[in-house]
Amino acid sequence: MDASEVALVPDGSPGAGGTVLLLQKWSHDATAWESLPVDQQERVMGRTKDASVELEDKAPDSHVARNDQDRFGKIFRRNMAYGTVTDHGTMFVGFSAEQRRLAAMLESMAGVPDGVRDALTTYARPLTGAYYVVVHGRAATPRRGGRRVREVDFDAAYAGAPPWDIGRPQPAFLGLAGSGTVRGVVLDVGCGTGEHALMAAGMGLPATGVDTSGAAIDLAARKAETRGLHARFLVWDALDLPGMGARFDTVLDSGLFHVFDDEERARYVRSLLGAGEPGGRVAILAFSDRVPGQFGPRRVSRDEIETSFTDGWEILSIEPATMDVTFTPTGIPAWLAVIART
Ligand code: HEM
Ligand SMILES: C[S@@+](CC[C@H](N)C(=O)[O-])C[C@H]1O[C@@H](n2cnc3c(N)ncnc32)[C@H](O)[C@@H]1O
Repeated sequence: MDASEVALVPDGSPGAGGTVLLLQKWSHDATAWESLPVDQQERVMGRTKDASVELEDKAPDSHVARNDQDRFGKIFRRNMAYGTVTDHGTMFVGFSAEQRRLAAMLESMAGVPDGVRDALTTYARPLTGAYYVVVHGRAATPRRGGRRVREVDFDAAYAGAPPWDIGRPQPAFLGLAGSGTVRGVVLDVGCGTGEHALMAAGMGLPATGVDTSGAAIDLAARKAETRGLHARFLVWDALDLPGMGARFDTVLDSGLFHVFDDEERARYVRSLLGAGEPGGRVAILAFSDRVPGQFGPRRVSRDEIETSFTDGWEILSIEPATMDVTFTPTGIPAWLAVIART
């Protein structure tokens, strides 16, 4: 069986191509271990020292017997030595398609199922350790052809520093504010940490921000408080804006349109239609098809924007623009579209 079959989440399962990593630092009691005769060491491990041949009559508390892969499932593992002559041990590195195989082995070593503790744990002691979910790179790469770009875990993104979260409004939207396009009752859709709702609130406009990420909405509400601005922030799905029971004169979409696949995109446009006042505007800043490479969200062409907003809409402008991000001072090529509800 090859390592990828053992360690990688199979295609068709959530997290396909990824792996669960158990990384543990074990300290060795070298004096006690070295003072054991070789046959005793072999008894502890359940394998011969020289050729690593599995013992016929291995003890039930031997390391190999406690970690029976036919019973718990297969893992892919490496032991790496660390340390100095006096303080040393092993970094255990184990990969598996399923966390429970690794967990079952640890429990077995500790004697949880039957009270028999792995003899190796007399000579080695775990100091630190953690499980890591390693996401396959391909899962983080946009797919072409109208598929949803990827199932981004936005809540997890907001626990860190997402590249779009620049802590100020996008210059393209500041431009729209300056030219009078942002007016009336404002909705910041997929608002993230709320910069555009707060921009509108700062202009004295009634502003709401909605996002499906509770983490983002919490951050946005906290920002409003610290900045002394009044804006409403709600966890709400952009695909069901009419369900909010409110109508908006200006909808600001910074980086949401390009998140949806074709089917969701059509639903989103219908949702916008149901939430807009006649004559109201929708402004969209989306990743442009001029962005090279594969990273980040799905690319959007001018043509796709035009064909998405037909019945009930009039396209006022679609201009090349820049989306500011945290990882490059030059920003990312984007489209800025302004569309009116007829
Ligand atoms: C101080 C820490 C550890 C040391 C020094 C150690 C060392 C070893 C050695 C020498 C072998 C037998 C030789 C070989 O097949 O490579 C072995 C086998 C194995 N170990 Fe460990 N190990 C440690 C911790 C762990 C942990 C934490 C796990 C699981 C979570 C684990 C799982 C296994 C498995 C599955 C085998 C193969 C058993 C078989 O032959 O089917 N080991 N280990
Ligand atoms: C690229 S971020 C942009 C955030 C923010 N507008 C900004 O400019 O910083 C896209 C945002 O859309 C949100 N989102 C994704 N799907 C959504 C949906 N169906 N309804 C509402 N928000 C959604 C995400 O949680 C994320 O905050």
